Amino acid sequence: MQLLEDAARRARAFLESLEHRQVRPDPGAVARLGQLEIPAPTGSTPPAEVLAQLDQFVSPATMANAGPRFFGFVMGGSLPVTVAANWLATAWDQNTCFDSATPGVARLEAISHRWLLELLDLPRESAISFVTGATVANFTALAAARNAVLKRQGWNVEADGLFGAPPIQVIVGEESHPTLLKSLGMLGLGRNRVIRVPVDSQGRMRADKLPKLGNPAILCVQAGNLNSGAYDPFPELCAAAREAGAWIHVDGAFGLWARLSRSLDHLTRGIELADSWATDAHKWLNVPFDSGLAFVRDAQALRSAMAITAEYLPPTGGRRAPSDFTPELSRRARGTEVYAALLSLGRSGLAQMVERNCAQARRFAEGLAAAGFEILNEVVLNQVVVRLGDAERTRKIIEAIQADGTCWAGITVWQGHTAMRISVCSWATKDDDVERSLAAMIRCARS
Ligand SMILES: Cc1ncc(COP(=O)(O)O)c(C=O)c1O
Repeated sequence: MQLLEDAARRARAFLESLEHRQVRPDPGAVARLGQLEIPAPTGSTPPAEVLAQLDQFVSPATMANAGPRFFGFVMGGSLPVTVAANWLATAWDQNTCFDSATPGVARLEAISHRWLLELLDLPRESAISFVTGATVANFTALAAARNAVLKRQGWNVEADGLFGAPPIQVIVGEESHPTLLKSLGMLGLGRNRVIRVPVDSQGRMRADKLPKLGNPAILCVQAGNLNSGAYDPFPELCAAAREAGAWIHVDGAFGLWARLSRSLDHLTRGIELADSWATDAHKWLNVPFDSGLAFVRDAQALRSAMAITAEYLPPTGGRRAPSDFTPELSRRARGTEVYAALLSLGRSGLAQMVERNCAQARRFAEGLAAAGFEILNEVVLNQVVVRLGDAERTRKIIEAIQADGTCWAGITVWQGHTAMRISVCSWATKDDDVERSLAAMIRCARS
């Protein structure tokens, strides 16, 4: 198995290079990717050569988002233990559908399920779905929501579809993530027929602007605004929705992880009143792509939206069948890395990672404000939105920062302002990386 040793050696060299290399993909390496564009191979290539080619051409053409100075989008890195667990799980090659067929990885999901409900302090009866990311987690939880609210009206979506069903009132915040709308569209609920509730200066849904809730209704709230990191006012929103009998769904792609920290729990107060929650493990839990989680309080609602029954499928023997809760039947063992992250860091290590990243975001805001730049958001979490001048100047400076390569942050337009968005959510980011990045940002802005 020389090949696997070679892969491990190359992967290690790649990871070690992240500390020193430019964060952006090397432009020369990106240009050289053209050399991979050959006609469909007719003959074979020795495996060692395939691997060498991947490393030669693709490794330098990667974004160093697994490294310590990547602050783009909201991505997260990969804890070394989760990379190692991922390798092992890939070698196992388990199709994680049924406990009876692949018991080892099914149990890892079941154990992680229990741990996550406890660590995130969500209703213990909730079911979990291990999916690819928050888009699909939102989709999965909202499928359960759609089916449950219509079931209460005597309509069976699984059997009869949506044609002729009672219309569902779907309410979202004005600053919902675009993928939430995509999920609603995929569910036949429409991207545009939603009611959008105005938000305040931080992007939080305004509870005083919530429309009168009808029945059936689904209210989608947000834990962690994609720009500001702000949280919707859950106690007020959930109280109104509960009174009306609406289903409350939380998009907490990164913000749900604040539940791990006692010092941040004021942000998520009331979130436990919801009916379903979506989050990403590949963001703040720092496991490799792709990994998302959906939690649904009414386990049966999720199961009836996702489970299949077919003659050839093995009996579950009373154990949780992972594929009863997911859109996919065949799937990789995503629970393995989640299990590894939770076991390796434990509650205290996870809380420290989240709190450290939040403190680092505050340091970015403080340093940039001291250098004369306008911080547009209240830095309550890990997100900083900073204006570096007018729109044109901000764009130019961001380009210069990315080209400089010390660090990487992206552009956004938030509440009418073109700005740079800094997101800190990697285990690998040290305080010294923040200082180096701050210095590079200020140097680029001034030159
Ligand atoms: C609030 C929010 N919701 C949903 C998503 C979509 O997540 P994913 O890209 O993992 O599907 C994101 C991604 O950044 C997000 O920030």
